[in-house]
Amino acid sequence: MAHKVGIIGGDGIGPDVIAEGLKVIAAAGVELDTVDYHLGGQRYAEDGTVLPDEVLDEWRQLDALYLGAVGTPEVPPGLIERGLLLKMRFSLDLYINQRPFEKAPGADGPGHDFIVIRENTEGTYAGEGGLLRQGTPHEIATQGSVNTRHGVERCIRYAFELAESRPSKHLTLVHKTNVLTFAGDLWERTFNEVAADHPTVETAYNHVDAACIYFVQSPEQYDVIVTDNLFGDILTDLGGAVSGGIGFASSANLNPHGVSMFEPVHGSAPDIAGQNKANPTAAILSGAMMLEHLGEHDAAARVRKACDDKESLTGSTTEIGDLIAGRL
Ligand code: IPM
Ligand code: MN
Repeated sequence: MAHKVGIIGGDGIGPDVIAEGLKVIAAAGVELDTVDYHLGGQRYAEDGTVLPDEVLDEWRQLDALYLGAVGTPEVPPGLIERGLLLKMRFSLDLYINQRPFEKAPGADGPGHDFIVIRENTEGTYAGEGGLLRQGTPHEIATQGSVNTRHGVERCIRYAFELAESRPSKHLTLVHKTNVLTFAGDLWERTFNEVAADHPTVETAYNHVDAACIYFVQSPEQYDVIVTDNLFGDILTDLGGAVSGGIGFASSANLNPHGVSMFEPVHGSAPDIAGQNKANPTAAILSGAMMLEHLGEHDAAARVRKACDDKESLTGSTTEIGDLIAGRL
């Protein structure tokens, strides 16, 4: 039976890279029953729609969501990010943001293969805070970080289970416990307690600033990393940069008990929109993560293998898509 998947191409290069992802999934022999959703900055400019609750209700009935990128320069910053992407993450409780990074064998620099598990529903992204006396010389802006035992623990448990399933069985907590002493304390204590339930997993801790150095200088020390929402956002852009470029970085926003959403790490890149220039590999690899999640393990492995030889994946958006599809 075909998997029912909601497609949100979005803005800029989003629709183009998703078209290549769908082409590759079809070439892998997996049948999808797709439903298109016209949402993002462009839709907002047309009629003010961001993400209606009825659409969210429809999504809850799907098997997965596949998203390109959202955001246009004309729309005020934050509106689509908060109103669409973050609303999706919070409402569907997509509490795991899983971002794998692999350097192809033979590429420059040390080889590595690690996965960042980013908490996806709390931290500074929860939107705690506000403005007081806005626009006056006495204005105050606060932006808090929300960390619940429940939210932190379920994310850390997921990361331990993932690490346990991998050959290296190694998990690093990344935080800033020397400065963020309240949130850091909760994260560290929870990490150590959950570690006791997973004796086969070797653990480590890095401050986030040090992790930035290791990402560049010795990424091979990592297997699975677990971290909070904002640190994970920043680290995964760096992860993309050190593993061949953001054009290869894929991600999954997971609710292990509900519908999940798959999207490339990159944004809508309005500067190159409509020029057939964007690398669709990140979207294609996100499609492979979706196939894995849908239980299409063999097709997922074949798509990943077809994307293996990263250096050869050059050319226009459609050329790269055709090349990968042709290898299947
Ligand atoms: C990402 C993006 C989003 C985030 C933005 C667009 C809200 O940068 O998925 O990494 O910060 O999570
Ligand atoms: Mn980001």
